[in-house]
Amino acid sequence: MKDLKDYVRTIPNFPEEGIMFRDITSVLQDPDGFKLAIDEMARLVSDLDFDVVLGAESRGFIFSAPIAYMRGKALVPVRKKGKLPCETIQVEYDLEYGKAVLELHKDAIKPGQKVLLVDDLMATGGTIEAMIKLVEQLGGEVAGILVLMELKGLKGRERLSKYRLDAAISYEGK
Ligand code: PRP
Ligand code: MG
Repeated sequence: MKDLKDYVRTIPNFPEEGIMFRDITSVLQDPDGFKLAIDEMARLVSDLDFDVVLGAESRGFIFSAPIAYMRGKALVPVRKKGKLPCETIQVEYDLEYGKAVLELHKDAIKPGQKVLLVDDLMATGGTIEAMIKLVEQLGGEVAGILVLMELKGLKGRERLSKYRLDAAISYEGK
């Protein structure tokens, strides 16, 4: 039987020289791979209590939605700049390659709500850190962070050491 990691395709030097790109499309396009990924992510947080699942645009949507559905919780999308129609709060953050802005509707999280942050990948941890800032600005409490993949060489876990972090797959390098 194949391991979850076997479904991830690695592309060297994409999108830049020296980057090992961990491709999730190969996980998604195999029904067994997708099922394994979601089941494993759900298992990792089966003991965790939360009210809301926060998913990061774009790839985070793919994994946050089934987790919210399985657990019977609300799903809140964090979106890239200019996509949300109502009043938002914003945060600027550094990506592994570039800068970006993430936004959240002001009424999406109520003070005291416990929030599970979900994304496909934690590299530097910049995206997750930006999501944490948005949640905490609205008075929400970060219950945990859940990612399919973690790149240990980029030290995101150290950066987010205050929080519980579960990853289904870990890579030693960058
Ligand atoms: C990628 C990935 C994570 C983030 C991880 O998203 O999906 O969200 O980078 O990197 P970090 O830990 O260094 O922040 P990206 O913004 O490239 O775009 P996408 O999800 O829209 O494809
Ligand atoms: Mg992303």
